[in-house]
Amino acid sequence: MERNVAALVLAAGKGTRMSSALPKVLHPACGKPLIAWPTEAALGAGASPVVLVLGHGGDVVERAVRRRFGDTVRTARQEAQLGTGHAARVGLEALGAWSGTVLIVYGDCPLLTSEHLAALVDLRHRTAAPLALWTTRVDDPHGYGRVLRGSDGLPERIVEEKDATPEQRRIDEINPGVYAADAAWLRTALGRLTPANAQGELYLTDLVAAARADGRGVATLEVDAKETQGVNDRAQLAAAAAVLQERVIRRAQLEGVTFLLPTSVVVDADVRFGVDVTVGPLVQLTGATDVKDEVVVGAGCVLHDTVVAAGSIIHPYSVCDGARVGEGCTVGPFARLRPGAVLDEGAHVGNFVEMKKARLGKGSKANHLTYLGDAEVGAGANIGAGTITCNYDGVGKYQTTIGDGVFVGSNATLVAPVTIGRGGYVAAGSTISADVPEDALAIGRGRQENKPGYAAGLRARNAERAKKKP
Ligand code: UD1
Ligand code: CA
Repeated sequence: MERNVAALVLAAGKGTRMSSALPKVLHPACGKPLIAWPTEAALGAGASPVVLVLGHGGDVVERAVRRRFGDTVRTARQEAQLGTGHAARVGLEALGAWSGTVLIVYGDCPLLTSEHLAALVDLRHRTAAPLALWTTRVDDPHGYGRVLRGSDGLPERIVEEKDATPEQRRIDEINPGVYAADAAWLRTALGRLTPANAQGELYLTDLVAAARADGRGVATLEVDAKETQGVNDRAQLAAAAAVLQERVIRRAQLEGVTFLLPTSVVVDADVRFGVDVTVGPLVQLTGATDVKDEVVVGAGCVLHDTVVAAGSIIHPYSVCDGARVGEGCTVGPFARLRPGAVLDEGAHVGNFVEMKKARLGKGSKANHLTYLGDAEVGAGANIGAGTITCNYDGVGKYQTTIGDGVFVGSNATLVAPVTIGRGGYVAAGSTISADVPEDALAIGRGRQENKPGYAAGLRARNAERAKKKP
């Protein structure tokens, strides 16, 4: 592929048909903002520089773009949205006197691939055409610009839906909006565009007629509709996201992930997998989740920004957000790991256990009905069923520290700040509000009293009372 390739991503439009306060190009598909998809495709095709033309919601979009791409892309501002041709002018100005091939794509087209962008640049070169563009055949061309071909079979011009005659509207070859143009020619051609059309805008699509007027040919590359679907409303967003989801899952499958019911899962594009991972039905993996080798994620689990180290099992219906699970751990079923939950190697967290900003040391267990918040638990500890760290006094949050090898009996309440020294033992049902020294036994509850025969007497008295009841 030619070395000198730049790209313009046009994304200044309002996206009225989304009916949203969020700029259209920031709506996510598979966890990434729409604009990130064509931008990554352009970068993947070797384009540099890549200029994003922003306008509507420009500051918000700019921040999102910087978070994701840092300084690897440039931005330009189209203050008034005077049409796609005007947006391209603004983008081209940001390139200065640059020469080479300029790829132009729309920020609302997330399905295009680097391969076919690179192929378009190649095509322009081979044919020496000033302009090359993708075309697509679709069942329902509604809303798209139609490609009008002359008697020689070459494209003569593109006519927008709003400008088309009923006959032209029946043409099923449409303009998906991907162009490769020679920079010098593009500069003069964009300068000559006029808003003589139904929308009073400068149409980028008029470049086709401009090339023909210059007596030059326009090269076309037919690309499958699956790659060219644009997003103008939320129904199209869902359709595009479904295609992206299929691709993300396919890639994961090739990398060694088994999905027991692939059509039922939600997997963000940035999620990473090791090999021999098994993902059950109805699982949702989002954000920067990283699931390493031989992990099993059971049915119905939701993992966001969570790292699961090799060989761990997340049993069904567990919800993990911002958690780190070490090697060989088991979690759930029905566990909730909130931000800052950390499980060291071989730790176990069982059903109805919630952890927040809490570490469970190597091989430690909290198997049933427990809340560990703002807590540090050492290695080899056992946290009994129903244990609660009382970390909040209504005003501030406090820390609970539990040493290595501690045994906390069932239904203990640990009132923070509190420390249980290593090897300590907390009797079941205790309320612990003072530190427990190493290897000590702490009992914090009423002493048991047995009254022999008392139950039988009590039953007899109760029976008498019931008989007298009116
Ligand atoms: C455009 C094409 C149409 C094509 C379709 C493919 C034109 C005139 N029409 O129509 O032939 O079939 O895309 O999806 O190009 N934008 C700006 N500044 C503007 C106007 C638009 O940056 O002043 C950006 C938008 O943010 C959007 C892209 O350009 O990302 C396309 O604009 P949109 O209004 O969606 O064009 P369509 O009507 O879909
Ligand atoms: Ca569009």
